[in-house]
Amino acid sequence: MDYVLTKDLKDHLGQEVTMKGWVYNFRSSGKIMFVQFRDGYGFVQVVASEEEVGAEVWQKLGELALEISIELTGRVSKHPKKEEYEVQLVSLKMVGASVDYPIGKKEHGPDFLLSNRHLWLRSQKQWAIMRIRNVVINAIYEYLNEQNFIKIDAPVLTPNACEGTTTLFELDYFDQGKAYLTQSGQLYIEAAIFSVGRCFDFGPVFRAEKSKTRRHLTEFWMMDAEAAYVEHAENMKIQEGNIRHIIRMVLEKCQSELAILERDIEPLKKADNDFKIMSYEETIGYLQANGSDIKYGEDLGGDDETILTAKSEVPVFVDKWPKDIKAFYTKVCPDDSKLVFNSDLIAPEGYGEVIGGSQREDDYDILLKRMTEEKLPLADYQWYLDLRKYGSVPHSGYGIGLERMVAWMCGVKHIRETIPFPRMISRIYP
Ligand code: 4AD
Ligand code: MG
Repeated sequence: MDYVLTKDLKDHLGQEVTMKGWVYNFRSSGKIMFVQFRDGYGFVQVVASEEEVGAEVWQKLGELALEISIELTGRVSKHPKKEEYEVQLVSLKMVGASVDYPIGKKEHGPDFLLSNRHLWLRSQKQWAIMRIRNVVINAIYEYLNEQNFIKIDAPVLTPNACEGTTTLFELDYFDQGKAYLTQSGQLYIEAAIFSVGRCFDFGPVFRAEKSKTRRHLTEFWMMDAEAAYVEHAENMKIQEGNIRHIIRMVLEKCQSELAILERDIEPLKKADNDFKIMSYEETIGYLQANGSDIKYGEDLGGDDETILTAKSEVPVFVDKWPKDIKAFYTKVCPDDSKLVFNSDLIAPEGYGEVIGGSQREDDYDILLKRMTEEKLPLADYQWYLDLRKYGSVPHSGYGIGLERMVAWMCGVKHIRETIPFPRMISRIYP
């Protein structure tokens, strides 16, 4: 590489370097010009004085515009006050013009920004969110590999539903009839554990959610993990370890990004502590006592999730749910056939459910009975039932919603900012 990246400027103090990137912002005060330069890897202030750069370069500086791309050379120096580096401009070359860049420094509404998402991604906060997203993804891979999970990919096109039929995206599949976009790869990686023991998938999933909340997308990324011979309590331990590893990696690797987002990191540090477990029944009692009108037998709403963790520094597992409101594959508790071994993990600070997990029903007869009662098209699920016919074992798994996790780490309220190109019920562009 014949040029230097902003993130490596510290290794070039006092040297003249070449840099390639874009003009994020600029201002001049008389005979000095300050250019906020970004190269994709970071941001740096470039300082140019008319006296030192000479007339020709000074004139080129007059042609700067927001988001114009440039190549520059300059001398690396230490910022006089802050722990930062600066570049004293020597020369400059324009690469690509930028006329009337639509995103200015004034406030824009969310609709305008979303319609310009392809450009909005360049702004500093969005840059920081995407970097943190990347660290969260890698932290998940790292943790799972360490715990002996291998990546097995699940198909996106499926003949059946994983998470109920109300949120399916449907399409015509040649002469095979209807196919659906997957809601979760879980059922397929359940099949794969019988081959490899522990595995996970990680990819886009689709839900035709009619809800327009700040926590819902119609396309989002999910990591589904599954493990043979792991039962409910151990499953929750693995989940806790996974989330705490993500928190630690973000705190360790994303200090400057968190600072750009003005994320208070104290709550994140405190969340890296023993998680709480509350039964569903206990949870309902707690919510009712704290202002919710939820009734036993109902799913938690967004506000309930916020109330539940309002006074908790650590995430809370809501454990052992009524069978009727959880998916067909959840294992029925042996001591209470109305309950299932399902746990939802609710993040603190109002970020809602970040994980859905459960022990899976491994008994052929019980599963078949439940699927029949729920009127599932058994022919489509024959392969799934086979898993309980040939060497069935106790097994468990969980799914992390990537965008919810990133929103929590970043401290951004709406998950639409945590995915490069959000898909919501009223938005498919750009
Ligand atoms: O709780 P869910 O529906 O669980 C499953 O799909 C299981 N099959 C996972 C498994 O056991 N392997 O979804 C998992 C997580 C939720 O906890 C939530 O964080 C996220 O996915 N999620 C969404 N994120 C954004 N937009 C939506 N519409 C979401 N629906 C669920
Ligand atoms: Mg769920």
